[in-house]
Amino acid sequence: MNRETLINHVAKTTRDMWDRGWAEANGGNVSLRLNDEQNAAFAGLQGQSEWIQLSVEAPSLQGERFIFTGTGRYLRNVEIAPERNIGLIELNNNGTAYRILWGFEPNGRPTSELAAHLLSHATIKDSTNNYAHAVIHTHTPSIIALTYAFADLSTAKLTALLWRMHAECVVVFPKGVEFLPWMMAGSDDLGQATAAALRQRTLVVWEQHGIVGTGRNLDEAFGRIYVAEKAAEIYLACAAAGGVKKTLTDAQLQAIAGNFRCNWEPSLLAGWPGV
Ligand code: 13P
Ligand code: ZN
Repeated sequence: MNRETLINHVAKTTRDMWDRGWAEANGGNVSLRLNDEQNAAFAGLQGQSEWIQLSVEAPSLQGERFIFTGTGRYLRNVEIAPERNIGLIELNNNGTAYRILWGFEPNGRPTSELAAHLLSHATIKDSTNNYAHAVIHTHTPSIIALTYAFADLSTAKLTALLWRMHAECVVVFPKGVEFLPWMMAGSDDLGQATAAALRQRTLVVWEQHGIVGTGRNLDEAFGRIYVAEKAAEIYLACAAAGGVKKTLTDAQLQAIAGNFRCNWEPSLLAGWPGV
């Protein structure tokens, strides 16, 4: 994989986020932990910045390199000027600081959600045995709307609602979606809570804010978010059309999970019985 292919992978994702209305203004951010082949595409770079202290520590990510979107940058512009809107960072050898190797021109920095991304990468690197390399945070409108539409949302309720409203969901996120109550955007607390949830799940919803999705690459992380967002859209469309009259039943979901050999958590079904 050469540098251009890698940048195009990121730009395709950020363009898709913009096109779907998930990335208003500078909303949303993306990160990709580079594998050996991708690292080779960025070989021989000198540090473009001093070491910058992180607000959190991620020792298991020592020496790792990441592509990040820049703080305040519009994801729509990544494909137009990648060197301004994304950048490559490298962590030091104890995971306490980073430096910029490429991009973020002229004086940019990685996303304000850096703590959430790095702590999430630390979790998924470990919990997926180094399989998962991508983290996306975005402002999916229908998922966000659900967090305003229900006063009593929980992980089980949100998961069961999404599973019951779209047959793809239990296959694409069999471990469910974590629901986190509102926390300040960009805070270390939000980052710690998100990373802890990712030990079990691949998706985390931030109340009144958005969603985080993870995966092997940006396509997989994006796909998981898209399926959850589509289920939320179907729910809201039914609600607007006079109310949900029918949902996938426990028996149907058990059959789907069995058919696709999902390692799922059926106990979450009780969170929302459906209709
Ligand atoms: P950044 O521009 O810093 O990436 O912030 C966007 C965002 O969505 C914060 O939650
Ligand atoms: Zn956000």
